[in-house]
Amino acid sequence: MQINYDFLDNYTFKNKAVTLGNHVIMAPTTLRASLADGSVSDNELNYYRMRAQGPAMVITEAAYVNDVGRGWEGGISVSDDDKIPGLRRLASTIQSGGAKAILQIFAAGRQTTTEILRGQQPVSASSQAYPHGEHEIPRALTHSEISQTIEDFAQATKRAILAGFDGIELHGANLYLMQQFFSPDSNRRDDIWGGTVEKRRRFGLAITAKVAQTIEKFADKPFLLGYRQSPEEPMTPGITLEDSLGFAEKLMALPVDYLHLSLNDAFQTPFRDKSDTKKVMDYYRAILPPDFPLIIAGLLKKPEQVESLLDDGGEATFAALGRELIIEPNWVQKVKNNDELAIRYALSPSDFELLGIPKMLEKWLLTRFRNGLPVTTDSEFDPMQPWQYYKHAVIKTAKPIDPTQLMTLKKRSD
Ligand SMILES: Cc1cc2nc3c(=O)[nH]c(=O)nc-3n(C[C@H](O)[C@H](O)[C@H](O)COP(=O)(O)O)c2cc1C
Repeated sequence: MQINYDFLDNYTFKNKAVTLGNHVIMAPTTLRASLADGSVSDNELNYYRMRAQGPAMVITEAAYVNDVGRGWEGGISVSDDDKIPGLRRLASTIQSGGAKAILQIFAAGRQTTTEILRGQQPVSASSQAYPHGEHEIPRALTHSEISQTIEDFAQATKRAILAGFDGIELHGANLYLMQQFFSPDSNRRDDIWGGTVEKRRRFGLAITAKVAQTIEKFADKPFLLGYRQSPEEPMTPGITLEDSLGFAEKLMALPVDYLHLSLNDAFQTPFRDKSDTKKVMDYYRAILPPDFPLIIAGLLKKPEQVESLLDDGGEATFAALGRELIIEPNWVQKVKNNDELAIRYALSPSDFELLGIPKMLEKWLLTRFRNGLPVTTDSEFDPMQPWQYYKHAVIKTAKPIDPTQLMTLKKRSD
């Protein structure tokens, strides 16, 4: 029986002449596969090529806007003009599949290490380490460094325009620098950038305004500006839903084309107030202008879930799929072809190559992201002991060097 899902219909943005082929979006997912200097690699192009023929819009993984904004090894850089040729290949690879290409841009703030920054101390709104687990204490950015960071976001946007992207997404979510300025946990400043909720939101809004001016000045075709937000933080003090709704209202005064909520579960209710039964997306819809494009991500897998998300009173406009598109690059095509029974919902470690999953992403998925990622048992990998895999991989790739061997090698080269 052919099911006609509404999420497969076209969508045209009201303010900009951009039409999307359906309502499914590839959520940003870091591959950790860029070259050492942050240039786009062939592995990345291959991965995106395989996933650009179904979703209407592909949001790339977070690209760092300046060197101190680098969050992990193998991240994409948009911090220099010499990255434009690689970024151009990335944009055209995505577009050749039929999807709109959006570059997500960010700075990691305190969510990085001195090692990843090659000796530089991580920076943030304040000298406040992330409260859970062991993390480095960052250095508070000075006023002029804050102005420079805002400028770096603008320069990154200009590079995305020159590289031929269809838009950028500001990564204001997932605990990175933009969120760190907004959070009362990481922002303990008492100058114009912190102290009250109005001052904590100044950094994110200043970046958005500056980036919007850059688009106005340099884009010669419709170029989307999106903002990704995590509505709540679990810690106290931490961002509350009320704070985030207030931020979103302010954002609406700027030429933003969509808002993207990074949720654990698309249908979730507020987690700071467990007694509240109203969905987070319903709160947003109530304060956004009617029909304002709202993307929701979080545990979306099955076509009927996506349909119900978008049908559910029209709160969400688009569904963003993260892990499901890693597992199933042809998700949209299979739905369109009435081939739903063939959709993969679990990751088979023997399919990594077939799915174009780069080696570092493979390792990460089987360790850090193992919880909440269904993995099949048809390979040597023991799903009950993911750390076995990690240990094995580390030993294979980073065998400690015997110092006596080093001496021998040195002698030989003499
Ligand atoms: C491997 C991996 C990498 C991710 N990288 C990013 C990223 O670069 N930027 C971002 O905003 N979110 C990132 N996310 C979060 C996803 O965009 C998404 O919000 C999250 O996975 C929840 O959606 P899902 O349940 O459909 O996977 C990543 C998630 C995964 C699993």
